[in-house]
Amino acid sequence: MSSRESATECYVYITLPGETSFVTAARFALTTNRQGVSTGRLVYGRSYLERENAVPIDPVELELSSRTFSTTRLRGVFGALRDAAPDAWGRRVIKKRSGKAELSEMNYLLFSPDDRAGALGFGLDQEPPAPLRKFNQTMDLERLQELADAIIADEDLPQGAEAAQVQDLMFGVTSMGGARPKAVVEDTEGLWIAKFNRKDDSWNEARVERAMLELGRECGLHTAESRITTIGNRDALLLKRFDRQKTDSGYRRARMLSALSLLRAEDTYQDRDKWSYVFLVEELRRISSQPKIDAPELFRRMCFNAMISNSDDHPRNHALIAPNLDWTLSPAYDLTPDPLINEERRDLALDCGDMGRYANARNLLSQSARFLLKPEEAKAIIDEMEEIVRNRWYEIARREGVTDKDCEKIARAFAYPGFRLDIAETAYA
Ligand SMILES: Nc1ncnc2c1ncn2[C@@H]1O[C@H](COP(=O)(O)OP(=O)(O)OP(=O)(O)O)[C@@H](O)[C@H]1O
Ligand SMILES: [Mg+2]
Repeated sequence: MSSRESATECYVYITLPGETSFVTAARFALTTNRQGVSTGRLVYGRSYLERENAVPIDPVELELSSRTFSTTRLRGVFGALRDAAPDAWGRRVIKKRSGKAELSEMNYLLFSPDDRAGALGFGLDQEPPAPLRKFNQTMDLERLQELADAIIADEDLPQGAEAAQVQDLMFGVTSMGGARPKAVVEDTEGLWIAKFNRKDDSWNEARVERAMLELGRECGLHTAESRITTIGNRDALLLKRFDRQKTDSGYRRARMLSALSLLRAEDTYQDRDKWSYVFLVEELRRISSQPKIDAPELFRRMCFNAMISNSDDHPRNHALIAPNLDWTLSPAYDLTPDPLINEERRDLALDCGDMGRYANARNLLSQSARFLLKPEEAKAIIDEMEEIVRNRWYEIARREGVTDKDCEKIARAFAYPGFRLDIAETAYA
């Protein structure tokens, strides 16, 4: 077994604000006892703490300090580190590449390509590696899409002469989070996440997601920059990475923290009592350098999700970023409509008011003060946004190339009747 495979400790590297290469920030150890409980421990390096420009990996859970931090949550991987690790898709790619059925959490940190979300990196050497210079390019997208298809179908990867080239491409497929097939690619502007359509998708996901980002923008949301690219006869969505900035000397990297980490929650449904926009806005107001902008922005995102029946708005689909010293809400991403059957009650993934997860105007308004909005302001936002969603979704979808047939399939997601149902609070308590 190689030392990487059996490692229980690693170094954590960080790209400091304004810089384009790593410095060593901390040491992270992960151990599992006989009962199967994993504990993670993190200690900042002394020389890192002595730096004048040192920044914390996580401003709440891992403040700059010489103490040993310890956690058993998230299988011992601190939220900020877990946010830098691959999710369902990236893990599937790593497993396929390594030919192993299972890998440890430490393996996932160490085996994933360094295109991960945020400013962190991981390795066994105290000296950080040189920054990654070679990324897959937009012109590789066709091959990457083929690879993604093969991974989804669990097909064998090419052998012989082509194998090395495929391994190369695959190594750069991505360690970004999420479950959908994706790859990171570069062009002259910088880095993009390519989200591929799956052959078994019910509608053209790339174009529908693009349309939602545009609809969100009309509703006043700050959404990620995106464009559609067509590969062969299939569409893919390209999302400009908001955690990377191309410069002449390389890429600057923003630190990134998911809402899951901010809420100190597990990613299991059993921990759902912590999944809440109301708790999230409290954390946001504490950490954001612009709470008066970010808290109402989060309110708009929550309302938008309710109006497009986005029931997949889980806590990894919200994040904070720190391109420099200050933390702010990241642009909105992963906005997907879900044409559910129920016309009376649809739920978001997070609690959004006194009536729990109910995607309903009255519920959304119930805690508006925490989003730094007066009741009449919150009401005006909802009225205005609902009008836009109702009147504009179809036109925008068509403009973005969603077919009429696909529009029919997603139509019931928008401004569903239960959104305005006036139901006594007690009925849903
Ligand atoms: N434009 C962006 N710039 C930087 N990071 C991003 C961007 N968009 C998404 N991310 C990061 O990549 C992850 C995966 O993206 P996304 O949520 O769109 O994928 P997904 O596979 O649809 O996710 P899910 O599993 O929630 O359906 C996000 O959780 C976020 O950390
Ligand atoms: Mg997602």
